[in-house]
Amino acid sequence: MGRLAGKTAIVTGGASGIGLAIVQRFIAEGAAVEVLEREMCVVEGAVVSVCDVADGARVEAVVNEIHGRRGRIDILVNNAGIAHVGNALTTTEAEFERVQRVNVFGPANCLRSTLRHMVADGGGVVLNLASCVSVMAIADRFAYGTSKGAVLAMTYSVAKDFLDKGIRCNALLPGRVHTPFVDGFIAKNYPGREAEMFEKLSKAQPIGRMARPEEMAHAALFLCSDEAEFITGVGLPVDGGTLSIR
Ligand SMILES: NC(=O)c1ccc[n+]([C@@H]2O[C@H](COP(=O)([O-])OP(=O)(O)OC[C@H]3O[C@@H](n4cnc5c(N)ncnc54)[C@H](O)[C@@H]3O)[C@@H](O)[C@H]2O)c1
Repeated sequence: MGRLAGKTAIVTGGASGIGLAIVQRFIAEGAAVEVLEREMCVVEGAVVSVCDVADGARVEAVVNEIHGRRGRIDILVNNAGIAHVGNALTTTEAEFERVQRVNVFGPANCLRSTLRHMVADGGGVVLNLASCVSVMAIADRFAYGTSKGAVLAMTYSVAKDFLDKGIRCNALLPGRVHTPFVDGFIAKNYPGREAEMFEKLSKAQPIGRMARPEEMAHAALFLCSDEAEFITGVGLPVDGGTLSIR
C-alpha cells in the first residue's frame, strides 16, 4: 500500500521542477493527482487542467470540477510560483504586482476554493512552497522575498483557523533547487555569466550544491502523509544548512 493510497491531491505548477517531482512521488505512493498549469501540457499519470492560479474565478471553477469528479480533495500543494530579481528601487510596480498576483494571490485563491470542500468533507492537508527568503534576505529578491514571507504567514493563518476542522497546513522552505526556475532566472538576469552564477549559487549553500527536486518531494510526501499527523503550522527548511549553519 502506498503512503497516499486512496487520496486525491491537487498540485499547482505540477509540470516542472519541484511540482513535477512531487506529482511523480505522490503518484508512486498511490495518490490520484490533479495538476493546475497555466498552459496545456502533459504530465504522465496526472490529470492536467489549464488554470492560471492568479485568476480566482478560474481556480474556483477548476477546483469545483475536480471535486465533482473525484468526490473529495485530500491534499493541496500550492507550488506554482514565479521568480523575480530586483531591489526596492529597480522593481517596477507592475513587476511587484505580477509576482504577488501569482505567488500570493495564487495560493490564496487555491485555498479559498479548496478549503471549503475540505471543511465540508471533514479534513485535509495543505502544503505551501515558501522559501528560505521567507525568513532571510538574499540580495535582489525584493518582490519575491515579500511574496514568500506572505506565503509563510498564510501557512500559519490557515493552520490556526482550520485546526478544528481536521485540516493541517505546513510550508516547505527550500534552499536553492536545480530546476528550470533557477536556470531561467540565471539566463535572464546574468546573460553570458551562466556557468559562473550557477557555481556561485551552488556554493552559497553550506552543503555545496543545489538540491534536487526529488529531495523536496521526499519532504512534501512526509508532510502530506498521515505520518505527519501531529505536524501543523510548520515551515520546514530543506536547505542544505542555509538557514542554520551558513
Ligand atoms: N527552485 C528553487 O530554488 C526554489 C527555492 C525556493 C522555493 N521555490 C519555490 O518552489 C516552487 C516551484 O519552483 P520550481 O523551481 O519548481 O519552478 P519551475 O519554474 O520549474 O516550475 C513552476 C511551475 O509553476 C507553473 N506556474 C507558474 N505560474 C503559474 C500560474 N500563474 N498558474 C499556474 N501555474 C503556474 C509553471 O508553468 C511551472 O510549471 C515555486 O513556488 C518557487 O518559488 C523554488
